[in-house]
Amino acid sequence: MATSKILPIAYDYSTLLASPRDPVFAQQTGLVEADLKWLAPRLDTVRRDVLADGELFRKGGPIPAEKQPLDAAFFDLPEKFLGPDRKTLDGILATADRLAKDVDRVVVLGIGGSYMGARALMEGCCHPYHNELARKRRGGRPRMYFEGNNADNDAVQALLDLVEGDDDWAIIVISKSGGTLETALAFRVFFEALKKSCKGDEAKLRRRIVPITGEKGRLSDLANAIGCPAVFPIPEGVGGRYSILSAVGLLPAAVLGIDVVRLLEGAAAMNERFRTAAPLENPPLGYAGICRLTEVRRGATTRILSTWGKGLEGLGLWYDQLLSESLGKNGQGATPITVVNTRDLHSRGQQHQEGRRDKLITNVVVEKPNRKPIAIEKSALDQDKLNELAGKTVPDVLRAAFEGTNQAYLDDFRRTATIRLPRLDEGCLGQLFQMLMIATVAEGRLVGINPYGQPGVEAYKKNMNAILRR
Ligand code: PA5
Repeated sequence: MATSKILPIAYDYSTLLASPRDPVFAQQTGLVEADLKWLAPRLDTVRRDVLADGELFRKGGPIPAEKQPLDAAFFDLPEKFLGPDRKTLDGILATADRLAKDVDRVVVLGIGGSYMGARALMEGCCHPYHNELARKRRGGRPRMYFEGNNADNDAVQALLDLVEGDDDWAIIVISKSGGTLETALAFRVFFEALKKSCKGDEAKLRRRIVPITGEKGRLSDLANAIGCPAVFPIPEGVGGRYSILSAVGLLPAAVLGIDVVRLLEGAAAMNERFRTAAPLENPPLGYAGICRLTEVRRGATTRILSTWGKGLEGLGLWYDQLLSESLGKNGQGATPITVVNTRDLHSRGQQHQEGRRDKLITNVVVEKPNRKPIAIEKSALDQDKLNELAGKTVPDVLRAAFEGTNQAYLDDFRRTATIRLPRLDEGCLGQLFQMLMIATVAEGRLVGINPYGQPGVEAYKKNMNAILRR
């Protein structure tokens, strides 16, 4: 089936270039041509490094010590699934369709990179009240809930309230290591509940559990012991927070009826731009370079991802994790913060407008809403004085807020840049997820921080396990 053209997303940093109005001050906060001249050849080198990492991984030879761990396999996932590995993708789609047919609720257990991508996809692509809709209005797809991402007794009990005793639910359990305590504990609890729901029907129980895990580990052993007919691997060389375009993100998304082929096509289109576009017109490279320059040369150590739409909050939280775990090492790494506007203009907005000058605000804006614009109608009751805005739509209000906010930032020499998405859909989100993953790796290579692995997370796990076993 022929698919329509992917509408390209854009990264625009023109607002960061020093303003002729006040060159001295602007040069202290914004960027100047000389900065970009310095940056471009370095980004070209970084692109070669990132592509070479992919090549090194593909060849399968020994990985030099200074490159370890090297989880570069995420880059090839879109092309692989759409090409030589289409069979694996078809297997994911078939299992998703089977689950969708068999059950009305799916509990997804996982934490960190084994959870945030699926949640971001659900928030970005599904009806915001998906779980509340009648099945027909959900396109016949199940409701979805996320657990195993905390150690919150009451939250687990509350989800058990929803599913216990019912015959219409299933579990997708995701853990690359297979040993993460929060996820393992939740799986044990929900497995017991599902067993009761299946009332001794062992075959049904096995079909209702889909593990996604690394080849070896406790979860893989459990899956074998239970005899789950469908188990999906997390491919070698794909790290947790880089796994959204593996079964980790694709299976839950496909269960929800999200067009994962389109998502992968978007990501493949971003790969192509990364390979071929000039460094400063190249979304991942340009974004990585500009973020880094504003951090080291202008002190922008806090990165605000300023999203303009509720459906983008999950993406922002996914990105918070990606940036924090990838580059927050060796006493370095900018601090990511996600905001959703206009909501957060009434909370963080004050600080962004007048607070410390340590921020780079990157807007993520969607050009066209998916639903029919709601217009303000004339009313006999005009105490709210909205009649003078009659005919304006909700998107008009959002646009005015966006333009007004950014003008106010510019007037005070606050730094902004913008990522533009033509639509909030799978094709655009596929590009954006891939752009941010490549940008994170590129920035790591630019500054000599290994963007893979998260050694710092081990400290809490070690202590927690010791305390529990005292
Ligand atoms: O990015 C990462 O690798 C981490 O955030 C992991 O995804 C997270 O710690 C969960 O690990 P696991 O999938 O092994 O349970």
